[in-house]
Amino acid sequence: MALTLTFSKPSLKGEIQVPGDKSISHRAIMFGSIAEGTTTVEGFLLGDDCLSTISCFRKMGVEIELDGKSVSIRSGGEASWKEPAEVLDTGNSGTTTRLMMGLLASSSFHSVVAGDASIAKRPMKRIINPLREMGADIRGRQDGQFTPLAIQGTQLKAIEYTLPVASAQVKSAILLAALKAEGKTVVIEPMPTRDHTEIMLEHFGASINRTAEGRIELEGGQKLTAAHVEVPGDISSAAFMIGAALITEKSTVKLTNVGINPTRTGILDVIEQMGADFDVEELETAGEPAADLTIRSSRLKGIEIGGDLIPRLIDEIPLIALIATQAVGRTVIKDAEELRVKETDRISAVVAELSKMGADIAATEDGMIINGPSKLHGASVKSYGDHRLGMMAAVAAMIADGEVEIDDPDCIAVSFPNFVEEMNSLLQ
Ligand code: S3P
Repeated sequence: MALTLTFSKPSLKGEIQVPGDKSISHRAIMFGSIAEGTTTVEGFLLGDDCLSTISCFRKMGVEIELDGKSVSIRSGGEASWKEPAEVLDTGNSGTTTRLMMGLLASSSFHSVVAGDASIAKRPMKRIINPLREMGADIRGRQDGQFTPLAIQGTQLKAIEYTLPVASAQVKSAILLAALKAEGKTVVIEPMPTRDHTEIMLEHFGASINRTAEGRIELEGGQKLTAAHVEVPGDISSAAFMIGAALITEKSTVKLTNVGINPTRTGILDVIEQMGADFDVEELETAGEPAADLTIRSSRLKGIEIGGDLIPRLIDEIPLIALIATQAVGRTVIKDAEELRVKETDRISAVVAELSKMGADIAATEDGMIINGPSKLHGASVKSYGDHRLGMMAAVAAMIADGEVEIDDPDCIAVSFPNFVEEMNSLLQ
C-alpha cells in the first residue's frame, strides 16, 4: 500500500538510536558462521537484508538465534556446513549475494544463489572474475554475470588482484574466499572502500597485513575463533535523519551511537563543507568507532563531490541530492557511476523523482547536477523498490508543499524497519 505524507512546517526535536549497521550486521553473521564456537552479536540490524543472510546460513545448518537485537550463532565451523537442499535466497541484498559467493566457492558442496528482481539485474561478473581466477566453478546467466548462480565448491588458490571498481563487496568476496585458498592472496584497492571485513577478520583472530597504499594480504588456511560483536548504528540510516534535521526549520536531533568508521563518514565531510551546524561526540567502544551526532537546522551551500570521497558516501547520495535541492548554489556529484548498478539506477531514479517534486536537477553519466534552493511540492513518487529512494522521498515530503505519495514504502524495511515511526517520534 502507498504511503501518503503531508507536513506543515515540521520541526524535529529529540533523540533516537538508528538501527544497527547493515554492513557490519551481515558480516557478523557470516564470520560467526565461519568460526567454530558461539559468536554473540549486540545491536544487530533486524532489516530484511540481514534476515536474508541469516536464512541462508540456517539453510547450511548453522544455528542462529535471535532475541531482539541480540543474536547468537552456534557453528561447528565452516567445515560443518551442509549442502543446502534449497536455493539460497538473498532477497534484495547485494552484500549477501556477493560476499557469500566467496565462501560458497571454497565450500565442499553444490549451492544455488538467487535473490529478487533487483538482484537478478545486478552485475556479478565483478566477483565471478576474480573467484574464477582463484579456480572457482560458478555458472550463471550470461556467463555468470547474473543470478541465479550455481556454485560447485572446490579448492581455491591465492591470487593477486587489483580491484577494477571501488567495491567493498568485491574486496570482501575475495578476502573470504582467500581464507581457504592455498597461498597468500593480495587485494589491491585503488581507492579506500569500507573496511569492515578487514576489521572483523582481525577481530575473529585472523592475521592480515594492510598497507597505506591499499594493499591487503591474507594467508590462506587460517581458522577464525568465535567472538562477540557490538554493532554501532548505521551512518547510512542516520543520514536520512541528519538530512531531515538540516533542511527542516528549528530542528535539533541527537542520533546516538552512530558508527563513524572513517571509510563511511563521507556524509559528515560533505555536510561540513556545505556549512551544516552539527557536533560529533566520540564514544568509548569495544568495537568499531562510534559517536553521538547532534544536528541542527542549517543554511547550506552547494559544493562539488567526487573522487576518493565517493566510496565513503556512495549509499548517501540520494539523500545528499535531496539536501542539495535546499542549498544555495550548485552541487555537482561526479565519479559516481556505480550508482547506476545499485538496488536501482540511483542516478536516473533520484533525478526523476526529485524533478517531479520541483527540484532543479539533471543527470550526468556519472552523477548529477543540482541547482538550489528550490521549493519542493507534493507529487506521487516511486521508490523503485529501493529502500534509500523510499527514505529520500519521505524526507523530501517534510519540506514539500502538499501531499507526497510514496509507492511501495515497505522496501524501507530492508535497512530501517521503523523509519516512519522514528521520524514521526521526532515531530514537534
Ligand atoms: C557494501 C558495499 C557497498 C555498498 C553496499 C554495502 C558492503 O557496495 O553500496 O550498500 O557491505 O560491503 P559496493 O561494494 O558495490 O560498492
